[in-house]
Amino acid sequence: MPLLIQNARLVTATSDQPGDLYAEGDKITTLAAPGKLDPADLPKSTTVIDAAGKLLMPGFIDPHVHIHLPFMGTFAKDDHPTASRAALVGGTTTYLEMVCPSRDEQPLEAYELWRDKAATGVCDYGFHIGVTRFDDDVEQQLRTLVADHGQRSFKVFLAYKGAFGVTDDELYNVCKLAAELGVIVTAHCENAELVAANQAALLAAGKVGPEWHEPSRPVSVETEGVHHFCTFLEMTGATGYIVHTSCRDAVEIAMDFRARGVNVAVETVIPYLTLDDTYAQRNASTGHDAFEGAKYVMSPPIRGVEHQHYLWHALAAGHVHTLGTDHAPFDFATQKHIGCPDASKAVDAQFNPLGEPSDFTRIPNGIPSIEHRADLLYQGVADGRITLQQFVAQVSTNAADLFGLHTKGHLAPGYDADLVLYDPDAPKTISAQTHHMATDYSGFEGVTHPGHATHVFLRGRAVVEDGKLVDELSPGQAAPRG
Ligand code: URP
Ligand code: ZN
Ligand code: ZN
Ligand code: ZN
Repeated sequence: MPLLIQNARLVTATSDQPGDLYAEGDKITTLAAPGKLDPADLPKSTTVIDAAGKLLMPGFIDPHVHIHLPFMGTFAKDDHPTASRAALVGGTTTYLEMVCPSRDEQPLEAYELWRDKAATGVCDYGFHIGVTRFDDDVEQQLRTLVADHGQRSFKVFLAYKGAFGVTDDELYNVCKLAAELGVIVTAHCENAELVAANQAALLAAGKVGPEWHEPSRPVSVETEGVHHFCTFLEMTGATGYIVHTSCRDAVEIAMDFRARGVNVAVETVIPYLTLDDTYAQRNASTGHDAFEGAKYVMSPPIRGVEHQHYLWHALAAGHVHTLGTDHAPFDFATQKHIGCPDASKAVDAQFNPLGEPSDFTRIPNGIPSIEHRADLLYQGVADGRITLQQFVAQVSTNAADLFGLHTKGHLAPGYDADLVLYDPDAPKTISAQTHHMATDYSGFEGVTHPGHATHVFLRGRAVVEDGKLVDELSPGQAAPRG
């Protein structure tokens, strides 16, 4: 169905002007000054939408999600049907998922598994290919994934010793291969050995609750990881991307390397901009559930409020380039309790049959947030912390450009008609009772954000109308990379 959006405020990463947009098939065909596109000159079947008072932006892109995620003895709670619906409601029309095989799995088989699962969702998708082991066989498969399957980004974990984590030798070889192939290396930067040592020392001292997660992975541990990764980029000439950067010190290390000519971009994720370390300290003494803090356990951890303030400044200054979610959804009542079992609850016994004592290192890491990333970032526009142009860049365009999503992230003729019509003065309040994610809690329960997406289009098709998913949703597609 052709689509004409009239009287919009067309907002991109570089411009802001009134105008009309016409899309035919799955592409944007024309942008024009207000009133210049006469519906009488367009096909009779054209859907005409009056966008007065609303912002029209390119569909949002989440560069960092986990949906199929076997992790820490369990699986992330969402599947693609639930996560992609939640994404669309929040204006996210494309997400990039981390393919996370275990060390003994084959990258090609893992890619096929993740790809088949992603095809069950309703928004467009792509992948970062997790490299959790490196040998000749893996190298051949990575070459095939790039040459024959259009993959453009790898993912390495410097953390998660004994699980996803790579050795320095492997890290070097991944970076070298990426430099040769022109592929970007995304990295979770924390020093795995220091995390393990800190965890052991805290547990031995009886410090077992969720509030000890942050002290086990302090700023210095993340900063060392960033320095480490950037050193490997510098040695190999690879292009890098630091995922989920939580703190000032880590951003500043990346800036130092950029100043030396290392090509490295920085991502932060929405929990770090809206929450602080006191959330993981919540327990019965603060009037919450005894293990409330487990809801807020993710890695790197959520830091003190001074880092939150710094990250907003870094977004405004262009030192942080993208905003992801690191959506990694685990239920509170069951899965988060793996690390803090309540013996009186049958459901905990099911996940912890041996009745092991509380242990923050066993709490599945991650916070569900795929639905509310843009709405929560928009608060920063409303507060004057970032501009509307920066908002669009951080929530969409920069990810498209960094990861070769060459049909996405821009409002211009020839690009996919992935569109968000955003009402900046239509507040909504977040609640697990009403969200579309599969988890039993929201980390942002009760937060009211100033605006929301009233209409969302994916390749020209309406997927959200009046803030609600339409009944008929078509399968999402793998977004072309180039
Ligand atoms: O805590 C987190 N970040 N969980 C998901 C896995 C990862 O490290 O990205
Ligand atoms: Zn990570
Ligand atoms: Zn190091
Ligand atoms: Zn992640």
